[in-house]
Amino acid sequence: MKTHDVVVVGAGLAGMRAAIAAHEAGVDVALVTKVHPVRSHSGAAQGGINAALGNQTDDAPANHTFDTVKGADYIGDQDAIEMMCERAPHEIIQLEHWGAIFSRHETTGQIAQRPFGGAGFPRTCYAADLTGLVILHTLYTVCVKYDIPTYEEYFVTDLVEDGEGGCSGVVAYDMVHGRLETIGAKSVVLATGGAGRVYRPSTNSHSSTGDGMSLAMRHGVPLKDMEFMQFHPTTLSPSGVLVTEGARGEGGYLLNADGERFMSKYAPNKLELASRDVVSRSEATEILEGRGVDGCVLIDLRHLGKDRIMERLPQIRELCMAFAGVDPIEAPVPIKPGAHYHMGGVHVDIKGSAPHMPGLFAAGECSCVSVHGANRLGGNSLLEAVVYGAIAGESASEHAQSFNGKGIQADPSAARAFERELKELLARDNGGPKQHEIRDRLAETMQEKVGVFRTGPELEEAKAVIDELKEQFARVEVDDKGSVFNQSLIHTLETGYLLDLAESMVVGAIDRTESRGAHSRTDFPDRDDENWMKHTLSYQEDGEIRLDYSEVTVTKYEPQVRTY
Ligand code: FUM
Repeated sequence: MKTHDVVVVGAGLAGMRAAIAAHEAGVDVALVTKVHPVRSHSGAAQGGINAALGNQTDDAPANHTFDTVKGADYIGDQDAIEMMCERAPHEIIQLEHWGAIFSRHETTGQIAQRPFGGAGFPRTCYAADLTGLVILHTLYTVCVKYDIPTYEEYFVTDLVEDGEGGCSGVVAYDMVHGRLETIGAKSVVLATGGAGRVYRPSTNSHSSTGDGMSLAMRHGVPLKDMEFMQFHPTTLSPSGVLVTEGARGEGGYLLNADGERFMSKYAPNKLELASRDVVSRSEATEILEGRGVDGCVLIDLRHLGKDRIMERLPQIRELCMAFAGVDPIEAPVPIKPGAHYHMGGVHVDIKGSAPHMPGLFAAGECSCVSVHGANRLGGNSLLEAVVYGAIAGESASEHAQSFNGKGIQADPSAARAFERELKELLARDNGGPKQHEIRDRLAETMQEKVGVFRTGPELEEAKAVIDELKEQFARVEVDDKGSVFNQSLIHTLETGYLLDLAESMVVGAIDRTESRGAHSRTDFPDRDDENWMKHTLSYQEDGEIRLDYSEVTVTKYEPQVRTY
């Protein structure tokens, strides 16, 4: 059996940052990832990463903290938010020292910062519109320099328990050779990203299937605030490809079919740079009330001029031309809200530790600390990934070091139990449904009924469809019976994860009878602080979701009505 002190599952920003922190803490750490690290979804992040550097303004971490608390619609945990915002400048400088090339201010030469939604200052550091990719490659070079063992194209299919309720490793499917292995560990860090693929379209890569969240929930670890899915205001139709918020940060306008800059009606002060939930709802309202253009509104960048677009938004220009057939230098581009980021995730504390399973940690989009509450600010996702990735890596190392010579408790035969399940699945020849049929119906249902606006009856309909799909999934048949790069098998396992997550999202959304942040119930249009200043916790029990609740940590900022 392979063993390491710390095993990190997922090699995007959070995973690699966790692995680097663990290596620097002096433990033996390995990465296990279903895609090559530089193909992780973090590479799709475009517009930037927030830190109150105060380079060109007198911004400070306290302003960043307040904006994040407000953006979260007051349901983020304020101690965790403060920690993230305080640590942000250090992480940016660290990334720069490791080689991340951020765009510079033209006169001072300092790291440039652009305005982003919901932020009181231009605070978003960026590398043109390729920020995630630049940081991803930077962290990868550090992992290579540190010689961190990396199990690439290993798909984690189970967590291993130590017999006392703790986590002692993972079971992983080596996709190249088609075999299952147990990898023992003293600590496991989940950094498997989001579950955007529950929806279609989505800005998320095909690998964002919520694997870590589902595995944790199957082992009794609750998921927190699953009802909060963020819809990014500017995604291309029909592909869902992201047009960065940086496009509005650079000065882009949103227009309806009448050529009106409609955000002046909804957010007279911040206009296009209100928080994402506000902008997405405004767009959806324009479209629903008949002022859209073929189911979209328009983003107009023409007034920025060719030079600025080519310098600051070169990838966006290419994406708009390739996926919408429009050159933003010449014409406005049709866009609409699209599923982008999931605020919910594995319930962890401020150290990244899952209180329900000693030895299990989580960071990045798969976790919920919670720093984003009901609505994440643009630019805070990469930040959370690096800050809480580092914290989870440090915490996981401390846990491993506390073993004091005690060995790893993983049972080497853990993989065998899963192997039997897999054999049974592959041998199934029952004419049953195929994973893609289940996925299509799931994504279509979530898109239609669990979207920007929700109602109780629609959510109940979505729940009924998910129940039906779960029954179908019990009979799912895998076409490819082979053992080498069996994508049909991997997608089938991922579909099981997506069903778990969709169910917890919908059950949470039915329960939360208020509107807050990205969760907008037209049958309960107001925020209800009296009854709902609390997190939901989803437990999977006997194949169903049971909800419980936990308190929101309020330190300095009492809830206020948000205006933009
Ligand atoms: O719009 C964007 O560039 C995305 C940034 C984010 O989600 O933080």
